[in-house]
Amino acid sequence: MTSSQDKVVIFDTTLRDGEQSPGATMTHAEKLEIAGLLDEMGVDIIEAGFPIASEGDFNAVSEIAKNSVNSVICGLARAQLGDIDRCWEAVKHAAQPRIHTFIGTSPLHRAIPNLTKDEMAVRIEETVSHARNLCDNVQWSPMDATRTEFDYLCRTVEIAIKAGATTINIPDTVGYTAPRESAQLIRDLLEHVPGADNIIFATHCHNDLGMATANSLAAVEAGARQIECTINGLGERAGNTALEEVVMAMKVRNDIMPYQTGIDTTKLMNISRRVATVAGFPVQFNKAIVGKNAFAHESGIHQDGMLKNAETFEIMRPEDVGLSGTSLPLGKHSGRAALRAKLEELGVELGDNQLKDVFVRFKALADRKKEVFDDDLVALMRNSDDPENDRLKITSLRVQCGTEGPQQADLKLEIDGTEHTATETGDGPVDATFNAIKALVEHEAKLQLYQVHAVTEGTDAQATVTVRLEEDGRIVTGESADTDTVVASAKAYVHALNRLLVRREKSGKDMPEINYKDA
Ligand code: KIV
Ligand code: ZN
Repeated sequence: MTSSQDKVVIFDTTLRDGEQSPGATMTHAEKLEIAGLLDEMGVDIIEAGFPIASEGDFNAVSEIAKNSVNSVICGLARAQLGDIDRCWEAVKHAAQPRIHTFIGTSPLHRAIPNLTKDEMAVRIEETVSHARNLCDNVQWSPMDATRTEFDYLCRTVEIAIKAGATTINIPDTVGYTAPRESAQLIRDLLEHVPGADNIIFATHCHNDLGMATANSLAAVEAGARQIECTINGLGERAGNTALEEVVMAMKVRNDIMPYQTGIDTTKLMNISRRVATVAGFPVQFNKAIVGKNAFAHESGIHQDGMLKNAETFEIMRPEDVGLSGTSLPLGKHSGRAALRAKLEELGVELGDNQLKDVFVRFKALADRKKEVFDDDLVALMRNSDDPENDRLKITSLRVQCGTEGPQQADLKLEIDGTEHTATETGDGPVDATFNAIKALVEHEAKLQLYQVHAVTEGTDAQATVTVRLEEDGRIVTGESADTDTVVASAKAYVHALNRLLVRREKSGKDMPEINYKDA
């Protein structure tokens, strides 16, 4: 890759479009951490949130703006003057702020605010000019662009450019387009819209038909110079374009896609793990670039080929994405310095107090498990306590199992600092445990997902459990890992309930309270 190549701007929207995904809510501290990692990795623009959406979003965008180093910090705003003002109030603290304003231009989206084409054109002119009066860097998006009549799309894009937009983003909001069409749309816009050569066109694809990466790259080949994407492809429904996929595609196939990005790809694996952990969305095993199996070679033929020459079956090196190939496991004799060094290798930097806490849990794990692998440590980090958000804490769990049911769980749960106990039976140990939790923490949330994965091989492997709960349309995900599957399940359930409490507080809406009671 040479610096004479065209630069493709990487616009990451993990904290906005990604976080919008049901169940992917992140805490304030987690958002700041992810923004720091994105900035460090070389992301050009971070879309940090939607400041008008909530007080929490506003505060997160402001803090991220204040802490930004190299990245442009962008906030989203609807085509309303109040939204744009609020967005500016949040992003203005950044060394390089951007306002991103949008309106749905397709027939279906125009029907929502019930605006005629002419009325919408006036709104676009007013709002983009207003944004440009506040900020030099303004992005405008015609939402659902790929289903907007081409003539009207050209008209609105021209108005936005004239009103001062510096970037025009073309969203495939519903993941409907296909590569050839995605490219043609950009080519046609560049050809037909006056002033198009002086601004940057961006592509923003959703993955409903599994074509987001291909559609984004096709748009770049046609002249788009900004890709909007998220880590792990996080996002509503089937998600957004995955950052790691487009960046690695342009790096590995630079012979046919001769573009340059500023991304340090060796940081991809770490940020992928952090996003999966904080959003509570595990990465599918066979996910391109960052999946657990992306560099694993199981079959005999593959292993033989790999030993002779890695290039036989590998088009990129694990090190290129931040996977260290020669990782030695830790054990119960490993000290704090070895743990710190290993965590740093995995991209996790901890303060002394945090390290102390993780070390205690590492020792407990090493006592139960002979070898502690990288994946075990990643899972262990998922269990980190967040005292501010942990109103519920399991202090003891004993489960009796036998061939003749029912199973029985004796649970001690600390609720806001006071210990409560419950004994419940159920159809299996996990059911009994969940019943005991429910007996102490009455709630309406429905269990949407219960998923167990073994972190490594062997009967002493840790189990990672994911629990997803839904209450009044609000979805939260909890995760935990333990060598005991039932303990991991209980902690994951409680983690999800803690998050539900935080979300209720944040929303400030009238919600049925969790009624704590002793069973
Ligand atoms: O998908 C979409 O259309 C969006 C816009 C707000 C840019 O996310
Ligand atoms: Zn989107």
